[in-house]
Amino acid sequence: MTTNHDESTHASCSHNQGNGEAAHASCGHHHCEHERPLQQVKHIIAVASGKGGVGKSTFAVNLSIALAQTGAKVGLIDADLYGPSIPTMFGLLDAKPEVTEKHLVPLEKWGVKLMSIGFLIETDTAVIWRGPMVSNAIKQFISEVDWSELDYLIFDLPPGTGDIQITIAQTVPLTGAIIVTTPQDVAIADVSKAVSMFRKVNVPILGVVENMSYYELPDGTKDYIFGHHGGEIFARTQGLSFLGSIPIDRAVREGGDNGTPYMLSHPDSATSKAINQATMEVARRISITEAERGNKQS
Ligand SMILES: Nc1ncnc2c1ncn2[C@@H]1O[C@H](COP(=O)(O)OP(=O)(O)OP(=O)(O)O)[C@@H](O)[C@H]1O
Ligand SMILES: [Mg+2]
Repeated sequence: MTTNHDESTHASCSHNQGNGEAAHASCGHHHCEHERPLQQVKHIIAVASGKGGVGKSTFAVNLSIALAQTGAKVGLIDADLYGPSIPTMFGLLDAKPEVTEKHLVPLEKWGVKLMSIGFLIETDTAVIWRGPMVSNAIKQFISEVDWSELDYLIFDLPPGTGDIQITIAQTVPLTGAIIVTTPQDVAIADVSKAVSMFRKVNVPILGVVENMSYYELPDGTKDYIFGHHGGEIFARTQGLSFLGSIPIDRAVREGGDNGTPYMLSHPDSATSKAINQATMEVARRISITEAERGNKQS
């Protein structure tokens, strides 16, 4: 018996397109084994934020590399259908995934399996998709890509709380969401919306990462360009875990633009240490969240 769910098992389940808990409830099982997508993936996490440009993609990329460096099997889905960043950030602008009879084969680089709409359509083609098409594309990334066995599958979400976020939250058994923010008030205001969205759809929030926390001057002093500890204070007031602060670092931006993730080009820097620390904190929060969920179910 295989853990892959094929079309026939889908067909036998009347609610295979179901929305998480509600659909499960109707069949009386908390986890109808045959309808759960991504069965061979241990932990599924979303990197999110209400606001654009705070560093979600940058963190998702470097997190995926940091996890892969621990020996974990890692996949990364670029869920930003309107503005995919993963092809650029992984230096794969002209790459095309292989298509087999049943599946789309994810690209793989630096030990991370990747899928992005940018691999499938011309990069300069404007995507003018409406809600249902967006949901279908996301569902295809989930069930028609050959992810096989993974320890972590990371979703790099677009900004905001729209169709894509809702589709993922309702289609995928997310372990939890990581909220990325910058320290300033305007970012925090938008991020609160993302937090309440995940709470509404019962997705646990693993914690908050504060990005662009400060800029370190040549004399070692820290310039808190976007404000002081806003992300940490936000986490505390929301009752969320604080996962760490990542400084503003020119090389992080350059790594994103030239397609070599920062964690690979600067493995021993202070910024890499900060990213690694946040990664370990993410892994720790995943264990705790899953233990808590297990307790609730038993
Ligand atoms: N810690 C950092 N130091 C320097 N530059 C950074 C840092 N984090 C992100 N950047 C840069 O800021 C810009 C925005 O980052 P990124 O694309 O990751 O944000 P995003 O939240 O994914 O944006 P969007 O909402 O458009 O998806 C990029 O040019 C990126 O290289
Ligand atoms: Mg992004």
